[in-house]
Amino acid sequence: MEWGMKNRLNKLIQPDGKALFLPIDHGYFQGPTTKLERPGETIKPILQYADALMLTRGVLRNCIEPNIKKPIILRVSGGASVVGEDLANETITTSIKEIIKLNASAVSMSIFVGSKYEHQTLKNLSKLVDKCEEYGIPVMAVTAVGRELKKRTARYLGLCCRIAAELGARVVKTYYCEQDFEKVVNGCPVPVVIAGGPKVSTQLEVFEFVYDGLQKGAIGVNLGRNIWQTQNPVASIRAIRAIIHDNFTSKEALDLFNKLVAEKK
Ligand code: 5RP
Repeated sequence: MEWGMKNRLNKLIQPDGKALFLPIDHGYFQGPTTKLERPGETIKPILQYADALMLTRGVLRNCIEPNIKKPIILRVSGGASVVGEDLANETITTSIKEIIKLNASAVSMSIFVGSKYEHQTLKNLSKLVDKCEEYGIPVMAVTAVGRELKKRTARYLGLCCRIAAELGARVVKTYYCEQDFEKVVNGCPVPVVIAGGPKVSTQLEVFEFVYDGLQKGAIGVNLGRNIWQTQNPVASIRAIRAIIHDNFTSKEALDLFNKLVAEKK
């Protein structure tokens, strides 16, 4: 692996081999998402606890100060919306020139395996990998399911992750599943990070799936709504960080979370 690629991956994946990515890219298909109406304000108290920030070029340019110290994962696929015909109908939205100009440490894009647009989105991934590899920029593939959240089984996710890695993704972001998640990770030759999905009802649920996912081989998370849509985003991200980087169990993370909430941190 050449120096530039190694350097960028080292910025994203920490010396302990783990990672906490904070995504705020949701507006690219769902508009001004709850608690993300003003993304710059949303991330102010929590960014310091993340290892990287994932977002689109529009939010980066307009809402984020250029003196940001955290590496940027630029979301470069899109072209569909929640009110449109099919969320899977995505294209690559950002040129390689723009990716370099914005000094992205990585890019991310979605693939929709099994959908009407499977071929198109897999072609998007292959072409993006070709362009980005030329400049040492890692591609993180997102195994997206659109509205079909029930698709999240180990068999399906394992298929998606393996295909993404085979086509050249350097990191794969996928959903956690309760059964056989280790099979998803074991079948994927590149690091896997867990996506959060819609906000779940309790903090403990989040801590449990993050902890379990890590035990089963994920290197970390790319977790948005279950941090910044919660009532206590700072306590939430700090507790998740403790699971990822300090080997906390889900119970220890909950204790830390409750302590931070009590201290109003
Ligand atoms: C949207 C994305 C988001 O980055 C991803 O869903 C992670 O955010 P959340 O934890 O809120 O699901 O890739 O397709």
